[in-house]
Amino acid sequence: MERAAVVAGLGGWVPPTVVSNDQLAEVLDTSDEWIRRRTGIRERRWVSPGQSTGDLAVEAGRRALASAGLEGVDAVVLATSSPDRHCPATAPEVATRLGLGPVPAFDVAAVCTGFVYALATGAGLVALGAAETVLVVGADAFSTLLAPDDRSTRVIFGDGGGAVVLRAGSSTEPGALTGLNLGSDGSLSDLIEVPAGGSRQRSTGVPAKTEDTYFTMQGQTVYAQAVRRMAESVQETVERTGWNLAEIDSFVLHQANARILAAVARRLGRPPERFLSNIETRGNTVAASIPLALADGVASGELRPGHKVVLAGFGGGLTWGSMALVWPRLAAHRTVSPEPAAAATEVGMP
Ligand code: ACO
Repeated sequence: MERAAVVAGLGGWVPPTVVSNDQLAEVLDTSDEWIRRRTGIRERRWVSPGQSTGDLAVEAGRRALASAGLEGVDAVVLATSSPDRHCPATAPEVATRLGLGPVPAFDVAAVCTGFVYALATGAGLVALGAAETVLVVGADAFSTLLAPDDRSTRVIFGDGGGAVVLRAGSSTEPGALTGLNLGSDGSLSDLIEVPAGGSRQRSTGVPAKTEDTYFTMQGQTVYAQAVRRMAESVQETVERTGWNLAEIDSFVLHQANARILAAVARRLGRPPERFLSNIETRGNTVAASIPLALADGVASGELRPGHKVVLAGFGGGLTWGSMALVWPRLAAHRTVSPEPAAAATEVGMP
């Protein structure tokens, strides 16, 4: 019986402001029909002015701690690519706001694969004996990185946070993480980027052009990579775990696009209904996407204790990764945010 990191709590949160496709179509050259057909997205939530990734992480983290029945943990790992500030990391402030004391807390940046990387990091801390419990959060307020007039990115992304609590346990119990597979390909780093604001641009001493401060993505090339890398990573993880694809009850993949989920299902030869999806109402929430899909899956009853689950992410870097677990029985909890307080009246940059 080996020591392993076991999922012991789950929480998710999205901000109250709903932005519908029709609202976007009022200010961009797009339509509800195009967005639904090409992505499967109907609406998404965006932060309101002054709200940040740290706020999303705190709300998600609070719910995950309550679900685990814990008031403290030994470490906090936050996956994000839209930190509150360029420096320092957002995780220490999140830990303090959650009342967790002077625990180690740090950010992990792997864009949409961030949560899987953070989970692997948290599981590593547990496996080393450096922590008995770890809060692993994925949170992004990616709407703040999108160019106001870019229809190709603005329709895709939503904001949110999702979190799990890991505790030390045994590799044979439900919730134990196993079968880790991670990868990257930096030769394709230009496919998903915010060109300006980093040391390469700042060292030139030339002020950044405004358009270079926004997120860009070469959608079609990324699409093909996402399908290939997630399918291959899932296969690798299933093999390492000693399972076969036919016995997986729930594939919980990064929610980038409904067509990508369908294409991975086809490539793996598995029925699409085994692929959990919340993209219709959440959009692509970057590092929050996988834990939010878990939270929504538990809330809808689609994800149940005893299910064999594979988590898989893909994103900028390029990066990809996956892990497997048998879904554990968690304490009853409300995973996702309250009902929308207000619909957005204006779809501009916060
Ligand atoms: N409304 C209307 N038309 C649009 C819109 C829009 N919102 N956006 C793009 N178009 C147009 C394009 O301009 C293009 O027009 P053209 O043919 O006249 O040039 C046409 O629609 C087709 O554009 P494509 O980019 O080929 O559209 P596609 O079907 O590929 O969908 C999308 C675009 C949704 C971005 C898709 O490529 C995708 O999902 N890619 C993968 C995203 C992903 O997996 N990202 C990884 C994680 S993200 C991260 O790490 C942060």
